[in-house]
Amino acid sequence: MANITFSNPDYKDKTVYAVAGSHTQTILKLALENKIPINFNCQDGECGTCLVKVTSLDKKTRMGGPLTEKEKSILVQLNKLTKEAVDKMAVDDLPSDWRLACQVIVRDEDVLVEY
Ligand code: FES
Repeated sequence: MANITFSNPDYKDKTVYAVAGSHTQTILKLALENKIPINFNCQDGECGTCLVKVTSLDKKTRMGGPLTEKEKSILVQLNKLTKEAVDKMAVDDLPSDWRLACQVIVRDEDVLVEY
């Protein structure tokens, strides 16, 4: 079971529980199901509208799942990721904090999602 806390300066923080074993649910889907007003458009990793910052709330190393090629490309375009950081991620196997909510699959970890 994962706790996902959504945070935005304009709204009250909201923590939702992701279903354990559901490894297909994206942060965006979870937000929409819980009426959290994250901006989105394409829902396919193409537009960058759903940009969020994801950080760990527990002491475990972030899992988060690898970035898709589309996600890396959009994050570089948005200046949230450098090409050097993309290369470093390939070596370190750690995801970046900036993600696209429509591309991040919820894992069994407690995270803070700033939108
Ligand atoms: S909604 Fe377009 S990239 Fe996520």
